[in-house]
Amino acid sequence: MVSSVWSRARPSLFRYTSSLNRIAVQTPSRPYEVLIERGLLGSTAATLRDMIAPGARVFALTSPPVRKHYGNLLRKSFAKSGHKFELLVMPDGERWKTLSQLEKLAAKMMRHGADRQSVLLALGGGVVGDVGAFLASIFMRGIPVVQIPTTLLAQVDSSVGGKTGVNLKAGKNLLGTFHQPLAVLADPDVLKTLPEREYRSGLFEAMKYGVIRNPAIFEMMESNSNALLRRDGAPLETLITECIRVKAEVVSADERESGERRILNFGHTIGHALEAETNYRRLLHGEAVGWGMIAAAMIAASMQITDTRTAQRILSLVLAYGPLPKLPVDSRSVMKRLLSDKKTVGGVPHFVLPTAIGKVEVVNNVPTRTAIQAIKEIKYLSKV
Ligand SMILES: NC(=O)c1ccc[n+]([C@@H]2O[C@H](COP(=O)([O-])OP(=O)(O)OC[C@H]3O[C@@H](n4cnc5c(N)ncnc54)[C@H](O)[C@@H]3O)[C@@H](O)[C@H]2O)c1
Ligand SMILES: [Zn+2]
Repeated sequence: MVSSVWSRARPSLFRYTSSLNRIAVQTPSRPYEVLIERGLLGSTAATLRDMIAPGARVFALTSPPVRKHYGNLLRKSFAKSGHKFELLVMPDGERWKTLSQLEKLAAKMMRHGADRQSVLLALGGGVVGDVGAFLASIFMRGIPVVQIPTTLLAQVDSSVGGKTGVNLKAGKNLLGTFHQPLAVLADPDVLKTLPEREYRSGLFEAMKYGVIRNPAIFEMMESNSNALLRRDGAPLETLITECIRVKAEVVSADERESGERRILNFGHTIGHALEAETNYRRLLHGEAVGWGMIAAAMIAASMQITDTRTAQRILSLVLAYGPLPKLPVDSRSVMKRLLSDKKTVGGVPHFVLPTAIGKVEVVNNVPTRTAIQAIKEIKYLSKV
């Protein structure tokens, strides 16, 4: 079946079929698959049948909102599987992404008889995914984790690639490991219950893949904004699949972010600085990336790395999925934050800048005044 929405937009490139989409991730530490299909959550146990040892205990880490909507569905799927199934619930939100939370969860697992054969499922957004994968990576020196991402951001980004982490007072994600999952199961249907802002925040992250690697993703987002904002199942499933395809390619080529993986930081250099400067309260991560992508496009145009039409297309696409929160920030303070970011090497910020839609370059000679000018411009735009 071909979706009418997609066939109008990209007749040859993105043909929607209702079958299971499988994407291979080939990292040196482990090859695995990402499976994407509407309704997949209900058949989790069957999908994992050949991957989990018979009789192994299965723990599913989740947050209260996700448990409310999907906890029973997941539990039911394991009812006749021969596995003991236990839900672990952690409090909701970024501030619980801590080492002490990890310790509490590990103690709970021990009380429920966890051993080296046990498997942890991370059912939730990026917070649950990061905590769950970190916990799995160190529990009894490492047990398998299965990522079951339930936010758009987690489906297109954080569940694939094996990065885990918790925060310290001194900063975000300062403790972490690499622990590739056994599999990633992404069910676009679960996004229906996601709060509106969270959903749109994920769409900005999705857009990133269009700019860095695949113009067809960018074009489908340009021509299908209404369907995507309505969360229509078919286009959404296709979008998620194509974004994961890019993420899988990039992390397969560079598991530990020494080279190519850096292109995933498009929009993040200024985005991270905006998040930090507003104390992680005003902007959701994807929203900060949205502003960061506009700023990067402006910098690229002003340095003549790209043409103004390309920069304008990026700006228009981000704004089409808005509104974005206002930016009550001081441009110079944002610049200072940027220079102290953990990814800034030796005081020289690396910007991922678009040269065309689908192609970026890592640039380390952006003049400070050009970056500050771009921050001023997004600040101004945010008030319009
Ligand atoms: N490991 C990586 O490579 C990587 C990459 C990017 C981001 N991250 C991390 O991801 C985290 C952000 O993740 P996030 O944006 O998914 O936020 P989140 O995990 O906080 O989830 C957002 C909110 O949505 C709720 N929720 C999740 N799924 C739901 C659903 N289907 N229906 C209703 N409510 C639902 C959650 O309970 C939470 O309240 C950050 O901690 C960030 O550092 C990690
Ligand atoms: Zn991001």
